[in-house]
Formats: sequence, C-alpha cells, structure tokens
Amino acid sequence: MSAWINLSLLGRGKNFRHSERILTALRQELKQRNFDHLVFSGDATALGFGEEMRRAAELLGVGEGPPGLAVPGNHDYCTRAAMRSGHFEHYFAPWQSGERIGEEVYPFAQRVGPVWLVAVNSSSANRLYWDARGRVGAAQLARLEKLLAGLESGPRILVTHYPIWLAEGRRERAFHGLRDLDDLVSVAQRGGVVLWLHGHRHEPYYHPGSERTPFPVICAGSVTHCGRWSYNDYTLTGSHLRAVPRIFVEEQGSFRDGCTFELDLPI
Ligand SMILES: [Fe+2]
Repeated sequence: MSAWINLSLLGRGKNFRHSERILTALRQELKQRNFDHLVFSGDATALGFGEEMRRAAELLGVGEGPPGLAVPGNHDYCTRAAMRSGHFEHYFAPWQSGERIGEEVYPFAQRVGPVWLVAVNSSSANRLYWDARGRVGAAQLARLEKLLAGLESGPRILVTHYPIWLAEGRRERAFHGLRDLDDLVSVAQRGGVVLWLHGHRHEPYYHPGSERTPFPVICAGSVTHCGRWSYNDYTLTGSHLRAVPRIFVEEQGSFRDGCTFELDLPI
C-alpha cells in the first residue's frame, strides 16, 4: 500500500487572497494525516520571483515534513529570467531527489513503496504574457524514455504540470496547452506509465483509462484558488487507487472530505 497527496497552488490576485490562511491549515493537515509522500504538480507562484518561491516552499514545509516530489508550473517559469534563475529548483530541491539520467534535473524518479513516481518538467518560459503553453523538449523526452526503460520493476506514475484532457474531454485551447503532448503521451505509454497526475487547471477532475487515454488521468486542481480549494489524498492498494478530495471549509478554517472516487490502474 502507498498513500500520497497531490496538490497545486498559486498566489495570484484576488482569487488567491486566502493563500496563506489555507496553506497554514494545510500544514496542519500534513502533520495530522501522516502521508507517506507528497506530490506537487506546479504553479507554486504567480511570477516565479525568488521571494515568492521561498515563501511558497516555506508554507508547504518543503524539506521539513514527509518526502515529496515537485515539478514546476508555467507560472514558476513566467519569464526566461525566472526559468533560468533556478529559483524553483533551489527552493524545492528537497522534493527533487531521485534517479535521473546524467546531470539534468528532469526527468527524475522516486520509489514510493511499490510504485515509481516519475517527474517530468513540461513548463517553459514564453515571450508573450498571455502565452501559457508548455514544452517538454526532445532532449528531455529522450532521457525520459531511457529512465522509464531502466527503472526496476514497479508501476510508473507520471507527474507533470500539463493535462492530457480538460474536464469535459477536450484538448487544451491554443496557447494554454503542451506543445509536444502527443510525444509525451507516446513515451509514457511505451514506458509503462499507469497514471498521469497533473495541475495547471484549477478545478479538480479525473478521466479513467479509455481508448482516448491509455491510462487514467487526474487533475489535482488548486489548493489555494478561492472557492475551489482542495487537494487529493490517494491510497493505492495493488492496482486499486482510492482518491479522497479534501476540501477547504472557509468558516471552519480546515479541510473536510469530498466525494471519493476510485480507479483501477492498468497494472
Ligand atoms: Fe499552470
């Protein structure tokens, strides 16, 4: 059995005005619920500034609580300067240990009980402020293929920022999606990925495996977006995944259970 959580946060504008309060409540959750592992699927900040990143990592307790895995979101690489600064990789370094190919940070894999969590960076800086597209890139895709092929046995769960599908089953609109999504899905499929965890979209949802999606896909939503604040608590038993959304209740200043969903992974 393996249990972990998946969350995404962002500090942008009035939609995120309660971020510090929610993250303080989240820290309490992390202490009380005894998770084996944390999964952070990107957008820790609005603009990727060093001070924003430091505060986000501090509020999440990076390096202090359970082990974790983190990938950046497009907001964390909001500009080329933010991407090249390495702020995300510096402040989230404790959640980026693992097996990797050569010296490049991404991709990397962490063993959690019987499974491998595989982190892929799908975010990249864009020149125009309204351009929210991501890219994995040919070099990282080649390393991912090699990494997946070389890991010891165990189901592979891919963690990245961008979705495959939107909640209603469409692809992301132009300028909000992943440029090389089809290539990443192909490499994941060849490498035995059984589940895709992502962020980017602020509403939580999931898709079971189907002809259109070779493995289930789960969007963590946003833990700090006003009125949508939630994260997922997962328990994996064999090939059976049970997910309990934990939803923030503003009046109580704490989280409650949402509607549980269950998936069978193609293991
Ligand atoms: Fe995003």
